[in-house]
Amino acid sequence: MTAWWTRSVGYQVYVRSFADGNADGTGDLLGITERLGHLADLGVRMIWLTPCYPSPGADHGYDVADYRDVAAEFGGLDALDTLVDRAHDMGIRVLMDLVPNHTSDQHRWFQRALADRSCPERDYYVFRDPAPGGGPPNNWVSHFGGPAWTLDPGSDQYYLHLFLPQQPDLDWHNPAVRDEFDDILRFWFARGIDGFRIDVAHALIKDELLRDNPVRDATVLTDPEARRSFDGLEHRHDLDQPDVIDIYRAWRRLADEHDAFLIGEVYLLDPDRMTRYVAPDALHAAFCFPALRTPWDARAIATTLAGAVTASYGRFAWPMSSHDDPRAAERFGGGDLGAARALAYFTLLAALPGIPFLYQGDELGLDNARLDPAAFQDPGSRGRPVVWSRDAVRTPMPWDTSAERGFSTATSWLPIPDNHGAQRSVAAQVADPGSVLHRYRALINGRDAWLPDTDDVTWLPVDDTLVGIRRGDVLVALNTGDEAAQVDLAAYGAIRFASIDGAEIVGTSLVLPPDGAAVVSLEG
Ligand code: GLC
Ligand code: CA
Repeated sequence: MTAWWTRSVGYQVYVRSFADGNADGTGDLLGITERLGHLADLGVRMIWLTPCYPSPGADHGYDVADYRDVAAEFGGLDALDTLVDRAHDMGIRVLMDLVPNHTSDQHRWFQRALADRSCPERDYYVFRDPAPGGGPPNNWVSHFGGPAWTLDPGSDQYYLHLFLPQQPDLDWHNPAVRDEFDDILRFWFARGIDGFRIDVAHALIKDELLRDNPVRDATVLTDPEARRSFDGLEHRHDLDQPDVIDIYRAWRRLADEHDAFLIGEVYLLDPDRMTRYVAPDALHAAFCFPALRTPWDARAIATTLAGAVTASYGRFAWPMSSHDDPRAAERFGGGDLGAARALAYFTLLAALPGIPFLYQGDELGLDNARLDPAAFQDPGSRGRPVVWSRDAVRTPMPWDTSAERGFSTATSWLPIPDNHGAQRSVAAQVADPGSVLHRYRALINGRDAWLPDTDDVTWLPVDDTLVGIRRGDVLVALNTGDEAAQVDLAAYGAIRFASIDGAEIVGTSLVLPPDGAAVVSLEG
């Protein structure tokens, strides 16, 4: 039997910014429930909810204070139960975001660990004595900049955090931690949750000896600032340790008992390293991040995706945006042009073996929000250039043409920027049959009818402007050039979906306008 997710399109919901159901300016689960119709019309069959557990919010929910509850500000457990029931009624599965690498510093485990050096919870975390000459135990740096160690003055030991000091890392060498998370998974599966997106899935296990990471190049040796930055080190001992897969083998057995789905945030840029995470007995899928970093360039797209498809066994998910990265429409030029190109790119992603995944607002063609840096809230953006904050991709969804765009009747927690104006809103695009929203609907809802069963993909000969695949009796081509492209089909065919007006079949060729993509069913 084919698993339920294999032919699904996924959709990431950034909970704080999707829809505000109780008029306090922050998105919540009631708001999502009320807007499920939008997702059903779009045709997505699974949604991933960013963390909605109780959290002090140091990293907007990625600092979890209780893994078995839902924060009151999002509506509590009852609101989640209602959302899951309604979503299921509409044929939409619901994934939660599991954050197993670290807890909040306010989690009772960490509070106990600080209060008592000899309590069992102390060993849930990575506490170590200072280096012999004083200072942190090794040279690791946090993803957000600065040392990955903070001193606990009560014990004169340091604790490890790959992210903020408010996000202490768990010690996954400790079987008690594994037992806790087995229980957490069971808790949610029993409540009807259909699976998990696993946060920083490549980082849970660290080198047991906590050896220094090699310094990447000589410049970081001479530049003390660079030395403190995450990219200044080769992450040999803190990320992607081989034993991490054992954790997923155990979870996989649990998930399979519930027909649930596990998809990892495996933020590695080498697809061959990612492959191990989706071995047949490990995670069902992993996000392919190189897919959301490609520029608008046929050769770059082909190189990135071809390598990833080969490594993926059909088990990579294809995102083009996320709550952590610049949006696809922004990367591809912004505005209407960026929106058209992102749709074309998603057309290609939707034809690959694996799971195409939208980030909320992609279906509206949103580019990055132009925000006043004074409005930035994201602590994880500290230390980055002012031009880029993750807040630029986390602003509220524009639902209608009113001043607050239908997100909330209160002042929203982040402003909706002018460049996400009325014409980009859901309501305006629903009313316009030529909108990108209508095209995403047509692509996603029509996909099942043309998607071939085979996972065998051949790449069309790549040139500077054309990239495409042949998969079974389907051909998909994307034109990154400035002029119409002529694609030889070597057969008669019919267009099943075009991202742009003007695509046509002439004899045995596809004529494809610039910045567009088309799906063609071939005859014979
Ligand atoms: C992941 C999340 C990101 C968060 C980080 C720490 O990368 O996607 O938003 O800041 O993990 O949990
Ligand atoms: Ca709210």
